[in-house]
Amino acid sequence: MRVAVIGAGAVGLALGSCLAAAGERPRFVVRDEATARLLESKGLRRSGIFGEQRAEPDAIEVCRSIPALARDPIVSIDPIKPINLILVCTKTHDSKAVAEALAAAWPELPGEPRVVLCQNGWGNAELFARHLPRERIYSARVITGFRRTAPNAVEVTVHADAIHVGSLFDADLAPVEELCRAIAVGGIPCAPSREIAKDLWAKVLYNCLLNPLGALVGVPYGVLGEREETRAIMQAVAGEVFAVMAGAGFETHWPTADVYLESFYAELLPATALHESSMLQDLRAGRRTEIDAISGAVAQLAAQHGMPAPLNGALATLIRGAETRKERG
Ligand SMILES: NC(=O)c1ccc[n+]([C@@H]2O[C@H](COP(=O)([O-])OP(=O)(O)OC[C@H]3O[C@@H](n4cnc5c(N)ncnc54)[C@H](OP(=O)(O)O)[C@@H]3O)[C@@H](O)[C@H]2O)c1
Repeated sequence: MRVAVIGAGAVGLALGSCLAAAGERPRFVVRDEATARLLESKGLRRSGIFGEQRAEPDAIEVCRSIPALARDPIVSIDPIKPINLILVCTKTHDSKAVAEALAAAWPELPGEPRVVLCQNGWGNAELFARHLPRERIYSARVITGFRRTAPNAVEVTVHADAIHVGSLFDADLAPVEELCRAIAVGGIPCAPSREIAKDLWAKVLYNCLLNPLGALVGVPYGVLGEREETRAIMQAVAGEVFAVMAGAGFETHWPTADVYLESFYAELLPATALHESSMLQDLRAGRRTEIDAISGAVAQLAAQHGMPAPLNGALATLIRGAETRKERG
């Protein structure tokens, strides 16, 4: 197995550190030159709830672009093995550019690579399938939390369940079994999943209820659950997401919105009551959010199926407005 990791952000560094710990010598694609040099000279560090892990510079490889992933000779401990797994660890708004670059490099990537999308939201696999063979595309559901503490360091802050890797296109799971084993051996629980659509929708639901509202109201998740008016919005959003999901032919681990909400208020929300929405942090920092892959993706899917999704549409519009306000200063 030879694994490339596109994006040395919080998720990329964490998964790469696991692969390095398992002896897999991951190859990072890093577009920021200072980060690339730091990784090459100092390696990377992981801290947090799964303990300390240090990957020395010779335990990883670094290249500067996706085309370079194909072009550069792989001078490593095992030069004859081509890259056969590519983890996409960029934000969803970079997906189109990454998919196009991978499609352009594809004929030069000899290892019949499988691409594992580690991003949040819905619609990522469909987007990549417009550019790459769909049977090579896998999705990961990540409900572990990571924070980049330095350009070459990451902290694991919270862990809800093992990372799940599966295919939305019924592809064979055998090609990702070794990857899951290596990530788990390297320190973060990870397993193949035959129910990846259900897994991804569970995360989309949670994100649709909490992320935009937490960002707009500017409070931690727990406060959204305490206030009558925000509970009413979240309940309505849950009903809408369930309707769109079912209308588009998908299901999740709970049969109805009401059953989901019981579990949401009893278990899911209390476990992250103090957590602030990543969208709130993005807005505060003037960064683009991932709203298009969350509420925006639900609204888009609804439109494709001729269904209404006014709440998700409104939340997406409001967040896009807040992003623009930041841009204008
Ligand atoms: N962080 C978490 O706890 C967590 C948990 C679960 C899921 N996720 C999801 O995982 C995805 C990644 O999140 P993250 O927190 O790791 O984001 P992040 O820290 O912003 O990292 C993304 C990285 O991708 C890099 N990148 C973008 N386009 C690239 C390209 N063409 N070539 C090389 N590198 C490129 C960015 O580089 P620059 O620095 O140059 O912009 C950045 O370093 C998101 O969809 C997120 O929602 C995150």
